[in-house]
Amino acid sequence: MTAINASIGFDRRLWRQDLMGSRAHAEMLAAQNIISADDAGAILKGLDQIEGEIEQGTFAFKTALEDIHMNIEARLSELIGEAAGRLHTARSRNDQVATDLRLYVRDAIDTLDGALLGFQKALLKKASAHAGTIMPGFTHLQTAQPVTFGHHLLAYVEMTARDRGRFADARARLNESPLGAAALAGTSFPVDRTLTAEALGFTGPTRNSLDSVSARDFALETLSAAAICATHLSRLAEEIVLWASAHFNFVTLSDGFSTGSSIMPQKRNPDAAELVRAKAGRIIGALMALLVIMKGLPLAYSKDMQEDKEPLFDALDTLGLAIAAMTGMIEDLGVNEAAMGAAAAEGYATATDLADWLVRELGLPFRDAHHLTGRIVALASGRGAALEDLPLDALQEIEPRITEKVFSVLSVEASAASRTSFGGTAPEEVEKQIAWWTARLG
Ligand code: ARG
Repeated sequence: MTAINASIGFDRRLWRQDLMGSRAHAEMLAAQNIISADDAGAILKGLDQIEGEIEQGTFAFKTALEDIHMNIEARLSELIGEAAGRLHTARSRNDQVATDLRLYVRDAIDTLDGALLGFQKALLKKASAHAGTIMPGFTHLQTAQPVTFGHHLLAYVEMTARDRGRFADARARLNESPLGAAALAGTSFPVDRTLTAEALGFTGPTRNSLDSVSARDFALETLSAAAICATHLSRLAEEIVLWASAHFNFVTLSDGFSTGSSIMPQKRNPDAAELVRAKAGRIIGALMALLVIMKGLPLAYSKDMQEDKEPLFDALDTLGLAIAAMTGMIEDLGVNEAAMGAAAAEGYATATDLADWLVRELGLPFRDAHHLTGRIVALASGRGAALEDLPLDALQEIEPRITEKVFSVLSVEASAASRTSFGGTAPEEVEKQIAWWTARLG
C-alpha cells in the first residue's frame, strides 16, 4: 500500500509552493480569528525553519508520510507541537494540492516563456546575419523556389510566438485560487478566500468548490501548449539533421552540439537535434497520459489525480531542456552559404519566375505560361543545363516572343529579391520583419 500510495518521491518538488500556500492560509486563519495570532506566529516560524531545512538538504522526507503535504505538516508538529495541528483547519489536501500545482505550473510557464524568448532572440540574430543568404525552399522536400535562410528562421520565430501565446493563455486561465474549497464542499469556517488568493498572486478565488478540487484542465492546457511547442522544435531539429548531412551540407554543427562516433572517426553526429526531435514524443505522451487519467473521472477528487504529476513534471522539464538545446544549436550553427546557394540553383527553382515573366511581359494566362515553362524545363533538363544557361534561340523555339530580358529573372538572387510581398522572402522584406520582431522582443 505504501509503495502504490506514496507520492513523496515526485511531489517533493512542490515544497516551495506548499509552504507558500500554508503561509497564506495560516495568515488568513489568524486574520479571520479562526486561529490565534500566537498560533499563526508559531506556524509561520516553523514553516521558515522547514524552508531552511529543505534548502540545506537536511529535511528528512519520509515515504511513510505519503506526500509533501503530510511530510511538511508532520515536521511542523515536531517543531512547534500542538499549534501545527491548527494549520489544517478549513483546508484539505484536495484544495492544497490543487493550489500547489497551479502555483507550480504558473512558475514553470514563466520559466519556459523566458527560455522561448531567448530562443526567439537566437533565431532572430541568425536570421539577421542571413537575411540575404539564398537557399532552396522546399515543398514535399523537393526544391520549390529560392528563399532566404533568414526568412526560413523567421518562420520559427513566428511559431514560437504562438507557442508563447498558448502558454500565456493557459497561465491566465489557471491563475485562480482553489484554496478554501477544502475537501470538496467548501467549509463552515469563515474563511476569506479572496485574501489567500491575493496573497498567492491569483486573480481571485475559483467559484465552485467541486470544480476547484477536481479540475486539472489547467495542466492539460499547459501540456497541450508544451506538446505543440515540442512539435515545432522537432521540425527544426529534423531540418538541422537533414541540413547537417553530407548530402545537404547546408550547416555545420559546433563541436559543442555534436558527437563523434565510437567507430567511425569522420562522424559528427547531430545527437542533440535528434534528441530534441525524439523528446517531442515524450511530451506528447505526457499529454495523452493525463487526458486518459482524467477521462471519465467522476467529481470531485479521486486519487487517480495524483498520477497527474509525473508526466506533467517530466514534460515541463523536458521541454525546458529541448528549448535550451535548440537555442544553443542555433547560436552555434555554422551556415555554408555556398552550398545553400548552389543547391538553390539546382532543380529549376526559378521556373515559377519564368512563368510569371511570361504572364507579366507577354500577357499570357498563367496556365499557358505554366505549360510553356514546363516545356522549357524539360528542354533544359534534357541538355543537363540550368534555365539561365539555355540560349535565347532555344527559348524562342518554344515561345518566339521571349526576349533576352527574361534572363534577368532566372537567377536565384533575382527570384528571391522579387518576392517583396508582405511576409515574402525578399531580403528587403526579411529585414523589415526582423526589425518588427527586434522592436517587440528587445
Ligand atoms: N498526494 C495527493 C495528490 O497528489 C494529495 C491529495 C490527497 N488527497 C486525498 N484525499 N487523499 O493527489
